[in-house]
Amino acid sequence: MKNKFNKLVLLAAILCFSSTFAQNRAPIPEVEALLKKMTLEEKIGQLNLLTPGGGVATGSVVSKNVEEKIKAGNVGGLFGVTGPDKIRKAQEIAVKKTRLGIPLLIGSDIIHGYKTTFPIPLGLSSSWDMELIEKTAQIAAQEATADGINWNFSPMVDIARDPRWGRISEGAGEDPYLGSAIAKAMVTGYQQSDLTEENTMIATVKHFALYGASEGGRDYNTTDMSRTKMFNEYLPPYKAAIDAGAESVMSSFNDVDGVPASGNKWLLTDLLRERWGFDGFVVSDYTSVNEMIAHGMGDLQAVSTLSINAGLDMDMVGEGFLTTLKKSLDEGKVSEETITTACRRILEAKYKLGLFDDPYKYSDSKRPKRDILTAANKKVAREAACKSFVLLKNENNILPLAKNAKIALVGPLADNKNNMLGTWAPTGDPQLSTPILEGLKNVAPNAQITYSKGANISNDTAYAKKINVFGPRIEISKETPEALLEEALTNAKNADVIVAVVGEASEMSGESSSRTDISIPDSQKKLINKLVETGKPVVLVLMSGRPLVITDELNLPVSILQIWHPGIEAGNAVADVLFGDYNPSGKLTASWPQNVGQIPVYHSMKTTGRPAPSTAFLKFKSQYLDAPNAPALAFGYGLSYTTFEYKNLQLNTANIEQGDDLTVTVDVTNTGDYDGEEVVQLYLHDLVRSLTPPMRTLKGFHKVFLKKGETKNVTLTLKADDLKFYNGSLEFIAEPGEFEVFVGGNSNASLKETFTLN
Ligand code: BGC
Repeated sequence: MKNKFNKLVLLAAILCFSSTFAQNRAPIPEVEALLKKMTLEEKIGQLNLLTPGGGVATGSVVSKNVEEKIKAGNVGGLFGVTGPDKIRKAQEIAVKKTRLGIPLLIGSDIIHGYKTTFPIPLGLSSSWDMELIEKTAQIAAQEATADGINWNFSPMVDIARDPRWGRISEGAGEDPYLGSAIAKAMVTGYQQSDLTEENTMIATVKHFALYGASEGGRDYNTTDMSRTKMFNEYLPPYKAAIDAGAESVMSSFNDVDGVPASGNKWLLTDLLRERWGFDGFVVSDYTSVNEMIAHGMGDLQAVSTLSINAGLDMDMVGEGFLTTLKKSLDEGKVSEETITTACRRILEAKYKLGLFDDPYKYSDSKRPKRDILTAANKKVAREAACKSFVLLKNENNILPLAKNAKIALVGPLADNKNNMLGTWAPTGDPQLSTPILEGLKNVAPNAQITYSKGANISNDTAYAKKINVFGPRIEISKETPEALLEEALTNAKNADVIVAVVGEASEMSGESSSRTDISIPDSQKKLINKLVETGKPVVLVLMSGRPLVITDELNLPVSILQIWHPGIEAGNAVADVLFGDYNPSGKLTASWPQNVGQIPVYHSMKTTGRPAPSTAFLKFKSQYLDAPNAPALAFGYGLSYTTFEYKNLQLNTANIEQGDDLTVTVDVTNTGDYDGEEVVQLYLHDLVRSLTPPMRTLKGFHKVFLKKGETKNVTLTLKADDLKFYNGSLEFIAEPGEFEVFVGGNSNASLKETFTLN
């Protein structure tokens, strides 16, 4: 390819730069040279992203005649195509059969691992382990690039405080501080420091913006919020991903201030480029440009014009840019400069990947065998799964179990490969996953295990049909529910302990999987109650893609281990934790509500002018008649097989100046009988400021390993920026005054110190 960009052309290009060059970074001479040679049609072609189908199509449209379109120079990138040989072929068409030979971007959704599927992102976030999360992203990049992919539609960093929204599973939960740390870890994992390496790929931060705040938790729904809430609570993770170098941004389906994100100039230009200095490219979500017609923004030509003028560079699947931009140019609705700018950004991404030097750099057919599903990668998947689990309750300290225990393993998710990977794992193969039954046998060959299904995930066939779009997830047994139950109860009679694997099928969360009732389905609740009636100890291994309402189950004498959807090593990891080879250390990253009526409930809520008393109901205070204000399970909560005690919280000073950091130390002791890890969390309360402050908000954390009996002095640094917030004029400032610092093992931490910012 180098031949296409010879020195003469370069020189010409350098001399020809226009003075109107509107970019944050220095122009890339090779790209400028190429732009000079391109026709308008060729430029528009680069703005077009197609999927030939065969992967997961999340809209009703898939692209047709893809090969012809590539040959005609009408395609800038493809997604949903994998394998080095197929991708070599596609690149060959682009490089050899088009006038300018511009290689393609090859995209994919690699949300939690490529073939080595890790836990769903909400699960991964529960590990609070940034190194581990970065490692999972790096492995995803290693595997995906081996299979030809150079551009990933991840990370999804949408803050979500409504567990009815199925896509809460794909993100890091409710908190912008933790969400920002995870965004950075994932971008770094995918891109590393050099995109020209064969095992790195472009990261896409999505869905820009506010998609997680869809009204009523209904997917694709309207979003509306104040600018101060956006800046303080929802935008930080997108910004963190961009600051970490994410080369691409995906616009979201929802509207923001009444204008769909894909056509929202304030969002895509004023904020993203001008305020934040983003200089990569913006791709639409799947047909989100066309969907602006249904939003009520005009016909295809109008919405395409709106989008490109707003700052959207690439049109996913809808072909609105391809089919209308020339007409809009002729009619003076869009300028050639705007089209050139969008095209430049896409070419620059290709350049950064090194595709112009070698369009086949991701087409090495030896790599898949060498790089995908390696033992080392699977080891990380097992570790990540163990670390994602959250022990919600350990009744009578029944856990961990003895490796020779007599176990009645029960439940529709106990011996089930189809639901282990979780939602948005289209590149993974469920059949490669280890179900729980197999995992228990692997880890404890001397345990006596009987298995019975006990119940269907749901007995509702119409519901099952909605869930089973990507294959069987809810399989309704031919046996009657009564017979299933009977068999489980018979097995339970002879056991020391019942382990019931229950919860949601993988597609009960994820895209287009919002629920209004987020409790465990009735068929399984019935099973749980009957198992408890046996009087045997019961361990619920709970699987879900979201926080659930489990108030009933929390009131039962059962232990509960929350495992999300754990990925390819599900069964082995569950066994590691149940038998105590790994002591659980996960902590919730989104609050679990008492009931659906309490939503949204999150740790950084405000006090209001009528704060609720800590006990009893008081008329005319901000409270419910029928439920407490606090969630059932708080943000940051999670138990261990051991216990931790916090003492001696100290600040290095009680007075700081603007710009100063503050050092916070605390002694943490492992007071129980097992070695274990604890996530030490720091929450801040700004007592008085010009915008009503949150009661407390996460501003630091550190995961520490302590041997039993061991004490460590843990240091957390409150950075000067951690005291800042966006005020009413959207300035990022810290206001002088008093602050409270809370440190502990969850967001209810009670150890407190105060300091003053002068
Ligand atoms: C989803 C995106 C995804 C895209 C491409 C859309 O439906 O919202 O998250 O990246 O499809 O698969």
